[in-house]
Amino acid sequence: MQSIFAISGSTRKNSSNWKILKFIQENFKNQLNIEIYENLDQLPHFDPNLKEGEAFPPNVKSFFEKIQNADGVLICTPEYVFSPPAILKTALEWTVSETILSFKPLALIVASGMGEKTYDSLGLILKTLLQEEIPETSKLLIQGARGKFRGDGNFLDPETAKEVLDLMKSLMNKIGENDQNPN
Ligand SMILES: Cc1cc2nc3c(=O)[nH]c(=O)nc-3n(C[C@H](O)[C@H](O)[C@H](O)COP(=O)(O)O)c2cc1C
Repeated sequence: MQSIFAISGSTRKNSSNWKILKFIQENFKNQLNIEIYENLDQLPHFDPNLKEGEAFPPNVKSFFEKIQNADGVLICTPEYVFSPPAILKTALEWTVSETILSFKPLALIVASGMGEKTYDSLGLILKTLLQEEIPETSKLLIQGARGKFRGDGNFLDPETAKEVLDLMKSLMNKIGENDQNPN
């Protein structure tokens, strides 16, 4: 079974981004082993003073291991003040020091009130970290996110649900391609 390390840019209780990750986890439970990261808010700010060979803080080390051990990464995030939430940006800054996201199959969902700026800027950030574009089929912008859910956490409209499921199929295909053509 392919393994996915999933990161929510929101740690809010009842967060729409968490609901999306839970929806994906439930719908792919027979096909994907998805770990939803619980400790994003425990990561320290990125420290550029760390000397070469010096150990990373334990939470950062564990975060790296989770990325390295997963076949793919899924990021699902809101927009805060026209930017990615700072805790997500912090996590991504750490990955620069180890280049562990290079050529990692990754899917991006921005689920927010509006979210266009973050959809674009995070696309650029991730293109830099991955050293390649995220395929269009592995990116999704969900606007008006909070109003998209029923009480049971499922999507109100089947169209958004289908878009989310299609995005995951695209990520699974990308992982399959990478397995056939390892770097
Ligand atoms: C500090 C803050 C700033 C926000 N700024 C934006 C913004 O610039 N653009 C936007 O689309 N939504 C913005 N929002 C609204 C969030 O996108 C919305 O609350 C979203 O549902 C949060 O995701 P969550 O439900 O997963 O917590 C902001 C929310 C907060 C708390």
